[in-house]
Amino acid sequence: MSCSRLHLVLIFSCVHLVSLSGQQETGFVFNGFHQADIYTDGLARVLPDGLLQLTNDSAFQMGHAFFKLPFYFDPSDTISFYTHFVCALAPLQLGASGGHGMAFVVSPSMDLSHALQAQYLGVFSTSTNGTSPSQLIAIELDTIESLGIDELEKPHVGIDVNNATSIESTLPSYFSNALGKNVSINLLSGLPIQVWVDYDGSSLNVTLAPVDRQKPDQPLMSRSINLSDYFQHKMFVGFSAATGQLTSNQYVLGWSFSRGKELLQNLDLSKLPQAPLPRDVPLPRDEQPPLLSPPLIGLVILSVILVLLVLGVVYWYRRNKYAEVREPWEKEYGPHRFSYKSLYKATNGFGTDCCVGKGGFGNVYKGTLPLSRHIAVKRLSHNAEQGMKQFVAEVVTMGSLQHRNLVPLLGYCRRKGELLLVSEYMPNGSLDQYLFHDQNQSPSWLQRISILKDIASALNYLHTGATQVVLHRDIKSSNVMLDSDFSGRLGDFGMARFQDPRANLSATAAVGTIGYMAPELITMGTSTKTDVYAFGAFLLEVTCGRRPVEPELPVEKQYLVKWVCVCWKEASLLGTIDPRLGRETLFKEVEMVLKLGLLCTNAKPEARPTMGQVVQYLNLDLTLPDFSLNSPGIGAFMPVSIEASSSISASNSRSASIPMFVTHTILRGSGR
Ligand SMILES: *[C@@H]1O[C@H](CO)[C@@H](O)[C@H](O)[C@H]1NC(C)=O
Ligand SMILES: *[C@@H]1O[C@H](CO)[C@@H](O)[C@H](O)[C@H]1NC(C)=O
Ligand SMILES: *[C@@H]1O[C@H](CO)[C@@H](O)[C@H](O)[C@H]1NC(C)=O
Ligand SMILES: *[C@@H]1O[C@H](CO)[C@@H](O)[C@H](O)[C@H]1NC(C)=O
Ligand SMILES: *[C@@H]1O[C@H](CO)[C@@H](O)[C@H](O)[C@H]1NC(C)=O
Ligand SMILES: *[C@@H]1O[C@H](CO)[C@@H](O)[C@H](O)[C@H]1NC(C)=O
Repeated sequence: MSCSRLHLVLIFSCVHLVSLSGQQETGFVFNGFHQADIYTDGLARVLPDGLLQLTNDSAFQMGHAFFKLPFYFDPSDTISFYTHFVCALAPLQLGASGGHGMAFVVSPSMDLSHALQAQYLGVFSTSTNGTSPSQLIAIELDTIESLGIDELEKPHVGIDVNNATSIESTLPSYFSNALGKNVSINLLSGLPIQVWVDYDGSSLNVTLAPVDRQKPDQPLMSRSINLSDYFQHKMFVGFSAATGQLTSNQYVLGWSFSRGKELLQNLDLSKLPQAPLPRDVPLPRDEQPPLLSPPLIGLVILSVILVLLVLGVVYWYRRNKYAEVREPWEKEYGPHRFSYKSLYKATNGFGTDCCVGKGGFGNVYKGTLPLSRHIAVKRLSHNAEQGMKQFVAEVVTMGSLQHRNLVPLLGYCRRKGELLLVSEYMPNGSLDQYLFHDQNQSPSWLQRISILKDIASALNYLHTGATQVVLHRDIKSSNVMLDSDFSGRLGDFGMARFQDPRANLSATAAVGTIGYMAPELITMGTSTKTDVYAFGAFLLEVTCGRRPVEPELPVEKQYLVKWVCVCWKEASLLGTIDPRLGRETLFKEVEMVLKLGLLCTNAKPEARPTMGQVVQYLNLDLTLPDFSLNSPGIGAFMPVSIEASSSISASNSRSASIPMFVTHTILRGSGR
């Protein structure tokens, strides 16, 4: 009978190999179970597509499938067998639990009808625990925690001998040759799982792997065991599966078996039938098991985003804190450019303790650069980007001017809406603080005349000495600085335009300070003559110790130029001088300076002397021309446009300003 079966197998399936020697089966391979010589009972059946289904989702059932022919073993000889099969355990829904599992069985009989379902997997019964010589060997893939039988409470793989208590069991995993570590396997994914069971007479190895992997180098379980006592002469090999309260569809897709390692034929995985997947089965994942659960991943991502956000804010804050505006055209001014950061550090973050003055244009801060170089930083706010290029060009040009009576301009820095000008720090402040603030000692005449000569010389240099004519445009005592030797130094040139925040820098707004502004400024704009006018007012201011316009005084005294003329008319010219001047005052010189002041503030620009002449007059190298109160333009003080009273107060050093737009530029190339 067995012989005819053999022939049938050879002729019809041609898939399993049978050795005829001694009429003994040595092995077979089934890539799907069409027409395979398979005995089934219970729920087990071969589906039309060749899939061997062991159980469906009927509860408390079992199913068995055996290769119909027995294998003969000589218990006195070395017993060995090798098998490789692909199975799939699919619960009804992915992620649901399913029961109860399946086993590869080596049994003396194909009739296991007396066995129990559920945790006994259709292999064992309560009567077969221990003593009974049932002589069953099962490799179980148990998908449920076994009640009272196994220690492992999770789906596991186990080796059972004679009873349902595994002699060895472990959680399903496989050794990934590529990763060099164990990767866990979900038995209930519904995806095909490869199982190898190797027994060479002394050790029983069980190996698992997903269907798309090679056989791992390391087995999942390796148990040294002598199975001779459990093997009878004739043994059947097959599968058993059972359901309990929980069920699952359990399939075998392909199976290869052999008595010898070398004889084991390869399964052709590409030819295997497909097991239906549980609903919502995901695509096979990469070997890497998920290290983190989704909520944890979310948390990690969230914290990473938070950290990045904080870093971003810090970066943004620092960037903003030290942000500058830098444009390509500024390249050539590189050496004159200060970084905002260095100025910020030099001035203690523009702290109030470093603020040494508030001007109409912005605050002035004292700062200390490395190498204890003292600087003054003016912060000018503006909203005119237009014309900035020209203005910076002028500032840098002025910075290159060399005269001992000019405050050296060191450089600048630009930020959005802000320009910072860096100049040398003048330790003794500005002249107006000595003229108008009683807490400071009033300068003597000798000091005053010396300062006047200094400023005249500086202005003369601006008008004639430099390669270009440079106008100062805002000469007044608050713009005259005193260095450590109390020499006068002219500062703040060109700054007048910043006094009006609305002024468009490109439109060369002519701005100055009332009382120092020549009458023709409105109609003709700035010129060296308007600077001379302002210097004249400054001469009178220093000599008389009062500002050119003081609205609080009686009407006849309000305008200094007018008042000096009135006094001159009354032959009391010297009555106008600063009462704080002491006895050492050279009254002849004072009188000359007063007259020079009137000459410079002549209403007719062409009648004013040049700064070169002014220097000579002051140095007594030239005598003043003879002129009287009746000379044209003398004493004809015309306050410029607006009613000054509203914006001027004597105690306020801030300059009142009137924007006037003229077409004159501050720099006129003398050679061009
Ligand atoms: C399971 O299979 C058996 C036998 O083939 C059949 O009688 C039963 O109806 C099936 N149960 C389900 C739930 O499909
Ligand atoms: C087998 O074991 C079960 C519990 O594990 C026990 O209830 C049963 O009585 C045992 N049967 C025999 C025959 O010893
Ligand atoms: C089950 O079988 C193993 C091995 O044959 C044996 O050591 C163990 O005592 C048995 N367990 C029970 C409960 O009989
Ligand atoms: C993998 O698992 C097996 C069995 O659980 C264990 O013997 C082996 O040491 C593990 N290998 C690694 C690399 O963790
Ligand atoms: C079982 O695995 C061990 C360790 O990997 C190996 O030494 C042994 O030869 C294997 N036995 C069989 C029968 O493959
Ligand atoms: C296994 O046990 C049998 C008898 O119990 C013995 O004859 C045989 O030599 C043993 N095999 C091995 C590999 O130890």
